[in-house]
Amino acid sequence: MGLVRTINLSYFLVLLSSFCLQFGHATDTIAAPNFIKDSETIISNDGEFLLGFFSPVNSTYRYVGIWYAKVSTTRAIWVANRNKPLKTTSGILTISKDGNIVVLDGEKNIIWSSNVTGSVPNRSVQLLDSGNLVLQENTTASIIWESFQHPSDSFLPTMKISANIITGEKVQLTSWKSQSDPAVGTFSLGISVFNLPEI
Ligand SMILES: *[C@@H]1O[C@H](CO)[C@@H](O)[C@H](O)[C@H]1NC(C)=O
Ligand SMILES: *[C@@H]1O[C@H](CO)[C@@H](O)[C@H](O)[C@H]1NC(C)=O
Ligand SMILES: *[C@@H]1O[C@H](CO)[C@@H](O)[C@H](O)[C@H]1NC(C)=O
Ligand SMILES: *[C@@H]1O[C@H](CO)[C@@H](O)[C@H](O)[C@H]1NC(C)=O
Repeated sequence: MGLVRTINLSYFLVLLSSFCLQFGHATDTIAAPNFIKDSETIISNDGEFLLGFFSPVNSTYRYVGIWYAKVSTTRAIWVANRNKPLKTTSGILTISKDGNIVVLDGEKNIIWSSNVTGSVPNRSVQLLDSGNLVLQENTTASIIWESFQHPSDSFLPTMKISANIITGEKVQLTSWKSQSDPAVGTFSLGISVFNLPEI
């Protein structure tokens, strides 16, 4: 019964998304002061990826993540607030006054931020067909932050695993703690910068 209901809901979401697409309301972009709240999603232009709020299996905590829109069984391929879950369904995702992508709880506390410094107006956040979530400056279309540079545990085509030898900054995959907890777990896949490049 539970399983059937879940599948129906996903099916409904896909239907709803295509309904919205048809009437031009579905969007892959959020621009300040717009936001999405729990139960709302944005969808990549090609309809492959959804960004929204979810709870992992056997968990009631809420996370902002990206998942495949057309597959009812896949779990999130990227999670924003993986180490700091929302305890209620009153969270929102928006662009803050300082121009960052932020997840806020019901009391407007920042639960997660893209943490880019330097205030730039006219930023918008877009979910690309590749599954990459990008924060960009509208007038120059320059990308300020992207989820592909901050992956969770999933590797997607066109993503690059890298390490900056000078800053020690790494782009690496890290496992979830468990199926019900996307917090940073024990395993990581990246390039070691200490010796010769090593995976
Ligand atoms: C979820 O909970 C059920 C019941 O306690 C358990 O049988 C199942 O293994 C759990 N699933 C995961 C992925 O932890
Ligand atoms: C942003 O900075 C805070 C405080 O330094 C840190 O706890 C948080 O993990 C950072 N978020 C990201 C997405 O790096
Ligand atoms: C922001 O965008 C608006 C409308 O697109 C434009 O008029 C304005 O000049 C932009 N501001 C900056 C600082 O780029
Ligand atoms: C930025 O671009 C998006 C997408 O074209 C648009 O919806 C939004 O209104 C723009 N934001 C500003 C502040 O100009």
